[in-house]
Amino acid sequence: MSKVCAGIETVSAEATRAAGKALAGVVREGDVIVLTGDLGAGKTVIAKGLADGLGIVAPVTSPTFNILLVHQGTKTLAHFDLYRLEKAVQLEDIDFWGTIESDTVSVIEWGDRFPEALPQDVLTVRLVITDDESRHIEVSASGPRSAQLAEEWLDALAGLEGVTTHGERWQR
Ligand SMILES: Nc1ncnc2c1ncn2[C@@H]1O[C@H](COP(=O)(O)OP(=O)(O)O)[C@@H](O)[C@H]1O
Ligand SMILES: [Mg+2]
Repeated sequence: MSKVCAGIETVSAEATRAAGKALAGVVREGDVIVLTGDLGAGKTVIAKGLADGLGIVAPVTSPTFNILLVHQGTKTLAHFDLYRLEKAVQLEDIDFWGTIESDTVSVIEWGDRFPEALPQDVLTVRLVITDDESRHIEVSASGPRSAQLAEEWLDALAGLEGVTTHGERWQR
């Protein structure tokens, strides 16, 4: 089991969105990305950047009221928001497992609410508000695929304006 911790700092919503967009260049079908952090931290901003990078033209809004929105781009993106879900059993109603195990890229806002529902190998992106315009983003991986994804994502962030990466890379 790999557990990586790397840190990213962004200075603006645009920079966070650009970081999300960079993720689109390295994701594969079947990848699961969990987005955590307080309301307003920037989870949807990351998801919007990812959608943009996948060539999705429809507006990507927070699926809070829908729980799941599926978008078709160069890859299929399943965008979940589990904020309003009360119990893990309700995940069955939205075919959570069927969706994440299909050929889609899954991005799950508030995925940490039901940790037992998550597959073993996921990339977790935790956003922390450091001030009005800046965010600390902690990246961790729980298996070999997410470790590879994290590493490739961090590499892809090099040179992006307003984005810096730091800290430990991988401990395999
Ligand atoms: N560095 C930053 N990264 C992401 N969002 C930022 C940043 N600075 C300010 N913001 C603002 O914070 C809010 C994040 O909202 P959103 O992505 O909907 O949060 P969440 O989905 O985590 O509840 C947006 O209004 C965005 O413009
Ligand atoms: Mg959101």
